[in-house]
Amino acid sequence: MKVNLRIWRQADADQRGELCSYEVGGVSEDMSFLEVLDTLNASLVARGDDPVAFDHDCREGICGACGMMINGVAHGPRRATTACQLHMREFRDGATITVEPWRAKAFPVVKDLVVDRSAFDTIIQAGGYVTAPTGSAPDANAVPVPKHDADDAFTAAACIGCGACVAACPNGSATLFTAAKVAHLAKLPQGQPERYSRVVDMVAEHDAQGFGGCTNTGECTAVCPKGIGFDVIGVLNRDLLTATLKRQAR
Ligand code: FES
Repeated sequence: MKVNLRIWRQADADQRGELCSYEVGGVSEDMSFLEVLDTLNASLVARGDDPVAFDHDCREGICGACGMMINGVAHGPRRATTACQLHMREFRDGATITVEPWRAKAFPVVKDLVVDRSAFDTIIQAGGYVTAPTGSAPDANAVPVPKHDADDAFTAAACIGCGACVAACPNGSATLFTAAKVAHLAKLPQGQPERYSRVVDMVAEHDAQGFGGCTNTGECTAVCPKGIGFDVIGVLNRDLLTATLKRQAR
């Protein structure tokens, strides 16, 4: 099959970008979307042109590096699927596919489809950790965790920090990301000592990084490749309210 790619090209954060069209032939329906970009880049390099810059690492849907807007949808048309796990069978022969970087104030474009997502790192640095002592691994049953809490923590921990939630949100909010990290640790005994300072610090850093507020539009959960649900935002809001009341009671 053959596809027409309209790809956002931008030399760096200070330059204006534009959509450029490329025709890519010899595409198999079993190819991943990133393999099509690889094919395009091989032809661009062969003729001495600048290849399209895009982030990727694992290509297995686990690292979160490969975020991009495909036809206006974060990670493309297949639900709960990262761009690297998206296959060309999702598109028809001859399709025109528009590919853009994440659009968010807190994610400035570095080049082409690559954005700077270090704002996520600073949110994690603000509180996304536990002060459990290091050392050899304890026995698995040394700290009992109720089954439903372990399941909830595991579901929240599935967030790969790709940024799709931010890109899809009309407010450019990273509330789903922040909430997944807060909920993951709030559900486990190891996360209790810093539970309430964590949520306050991470939300403050979220706001300081220029992410917008959550207005419950739900676009984030619709595009999350790991299916993180809205319930984690409930955990965040509940813990933030509890933290505020605790401070007022002092
Ligand atoms: S490259 Fe790792 S999730 Fe896509």
